Amino acid sequence: MNSSVVKEKLFINGQWVETKNTQKIYNKYTGELFAEVCVADESLVDQAIGAAVHAYKQTVFAPDYRYTVLMRTAELLKENIEEFARIIAQEGGKPITDAKAEVNRSVSTIQMAADETKKLVGEIIPNYNHQGRFLYTVKKPIGVIAAITPFNFPLNLVVHKVAPALAAGNPVILKPASTTATIAVKLCELLEKAGVPKGYVQCVVGSGSTVGEQLLKDERIAHYTFTGSPEVGKHINRTIGLRKATLELGSNSATIVHSDADVEKAASKLAKMAFAHAGQICISVQRIFVQESVKEKFMEKFLHEVSLLKVGDPLNPETNVGPMISEKEAERIELWVKEALDGGAEILSGGKREKNVYYPTVITNARKGMKVVDEEAFAPIVVVSTYETINEAIELVNDSKYGLQAGIYTSDLNLSYKIPYLLEVGGIIVNDTCCFRTDQMPYGGVKESGNGKEGPSYAIQELVETVTVVVNLEG
Ligand code: SIN
Repeated sequence: MNSSVVKEKLFINGQWVETKNTQKIYNKYTGELFAEVCVADESLVDQAIGAAVHAYKQTVFAPDYRYTVLMRTAELLKENIEEFARIIAQEGGKPITDAKAEVNRSVSTIQMAADETKKLVGEIIPNYNHQGRFLYTVKKPIGVIAAITPFNFPLNLVVHKVAPALAAGNPVILKPASTTATIAVKLCELLEKAGVPKGYVQCVVGSGSTVGEQLLKDERIAHYTFTGSPEVGKHINRTIGLRKATLELGSNSATIVHSDADVEKAASKLAKMAFAHAGQICISVQRIFVQESVKEKFMEKFLHEVSLLKVGDPLNPETNVGPMISEKEAERIELWVKEALDGGAEILSGGKREKNVYYPTVITNARKGMKVVDEEAFAPIVVVSTYETINEAIELVNDSKYGLQAGIYTSDLNLSYKIPYLLEVGGIIVNDTCCFRTDQMPYGGVKESGNGKEGPSYAIQELVETVTVVVNLEG
């Protein structure tokens, strides 16, 4: 092993545990070995769950101390933005400017979760029909949470799960994506430094079929919070029985560019957001529907902006589009594009692959039945189509098994108020692309895009139990 390659340990029951088995993590652009992370076996996962249950039952983790731990963690992260961003850029392939933005977002996501510790209040229930009884509710932690996180936002999506779980007073067992696990381990180091009580945060790295499966089957876990594919989301629901899960699954998100929009502005933002993080974002712009009368103007600007995107090394601050997570994934999208071309679609830009780098690809004349339209691409491709009427555009957006977010560019105020009721999605972005998220907003989809909402003040509601108390004043 190269002596500069760090071997990261697992964080279990407040201890850093070294294992024989490791997961090798590569720099996604150079292919060089970047880190090795210890892998948990069955007995370590079992110990982690046992320690979490013990902590939940025995350790008082009071709301004011939760606040302190989270705010300290945010401070420590702020002091290490550069280092954390470089890890994300190398192990995740995310362009460094976007990686820094992700770390900054993570700082504020943690702070938002900290603020939630002050709002965990129940309510007094008006008593209409039972005299002599006083009714109120209290909110309490629900128990051990398993957080299963993806590679694409390897820090902020970990934070979106771990921070609200802690804010609610629940121990959390984190299983990060193996291919980007270093950053998750680094976050645990900060949480430890910030004073998180023993057993309240644990990190178990390993595959979905071993560690993931064990977590799902263990009834000591009260709640699962997962971001990933609909297939795995459905499997989680089938496996956990009556226990609950927050599922943030995929999408083939769409943005409408209506005839009354600022078409040039829309084109330049869409060119950026269709290829951000090489399209590996759940709300990436995959389908664009442009009103027929503005198509020419839109395409001219859009293709020009796409041609300006710089593809290359994520550590270069000029880079807009980095590599995909693996060569296998780049080969997959190459096949999907070929299937579309064989079926009559056309490529207007891109369509080229070098190892795991897939060039920003604009496709037209694609139709339903093609994977690039129907399935979540999670790759730097976008399909542009036209429509005549707004009703037609709405039908096209809704003609999907997914429903995470949609964007619409329009200057019609009435349309912007009506559209949330017409589109089958969890979030509508007016005059911006579907690929917009700010961390305080409720984020989560409908249909095969999942259920439940993230965003600290929404996530936390899924992670507390509302207990009703009825006091018989005559008793
Ligand atoms: C996701 O890919 O679901 C996360 C998007 C984001 O947080 O910006």
